[in-house]
Amino acid sequence: MDTPIPDYLAEVLAACAADASGAVADYIPELAQVEPEQLGVVLATVDGAVYEAGDADAGFTIQSISKPFVYALALQQRGLEAVLAQVDVEPSGEAFNELSLEKGSGRPLNPMINAGAIVVHTMLGDPGDPQGRCEQVLAGLSAFAGRPLGVDEAAYASESETAFRNYAIANMLRSRDSIVEDPEDVVAAYTRQCSVRVTTRDLALMAATLANGGVHPLSEERVVEEWVARQVMSVMATCGMYDSAGDWISTVGFPAKSGVSGGIIGALPGQLGIAAFSPRLDPHGSSVRGVEVCRRLSADMGLHMM
Ligand code: DON
Repeated sequence: MDTPIPDYLAEVLAACAADASGAVADYIPELAQVEPEQLGVVLATVDGAVYEAGDADAGFTIQSISKPFVYALALQQRGLEAVLAQVDVEPSGEAFNELSLEKGSGRPLNPMINAGAIVVHTMLGDPGDPQGRCEQVLAGLSAFAGRPLGVDEAAYASESETAFRNYAIANMLRSRDSIVEDPEDVVAAYTRQCSVRVTTRDLALMAATLANGGVHPLSEERVVEEWVARQVMSVMATCGMYDSAGDWISTVGFPAKSGVSGGIIGALPGQLGIAAFSPRLDPHGSSVRGVEVCRRLSADMGLHMM
């Protein structure tokens, strides 16, 4: 690449902007209201350089991109064995909101789908203290971002009114004792986790913190240990893109995670964090343009890990 990186990123966005396919998520009413043309990209290297183009500072809810980071916090707090005993690390090959449980043990198949993420969420803090847990989630996500984050209360209220599938999943998990608290309380707290407001810049730095072995590239705070970052990126590589995980890892080639508000992150161990944002989604629940931005970055910059 002989053009400066910000110019190159602007070119990538311009090339992706023409694609107006896909649709904004409408099962969460608040998400149906967003401006669908928004488009941003940020690269954050492990040594602290940040390059951005487009709507890099526009705010949106983190949604499923919270899952790898809360998984990291649970691993750090409880240890690998205890977390694996509750949630497996196998790709489900199904949509994010399916009840994909392992035959036999009944564990959710992985922490990136809603069932696994709901169980992982309850592993933080003291049982029976959803408020304390929400505070820990917010503090942990803020440490990954390197600045204090907040909850988008309107998005939280909106999703809470229509979280029927998550209530169903939580009730099934409760019936198997995978969670032990009231399913409604658990879904409320998990929904607050999904409603934390971030920017594309935040997400790139959060991904860069994983890529940097758990140390934030700018604040230099160690947020989680190195083995935790490795475990999280491994599970992102195999499960982060749900039922398109195989296509993703073979074509784009780095660990990633998407969310229904249109964010997507990639983490290249030892190199950089990538984040893109654009609200219209493909049938897997991932940003159409965000996926395309990542495909182009991977091809142009040789980011495929294999
Ligand atoms: O639990 C849900 O359904 C949403 N709060 C998050 C889902 C999500 O982001 C799926 N990712 N693409």
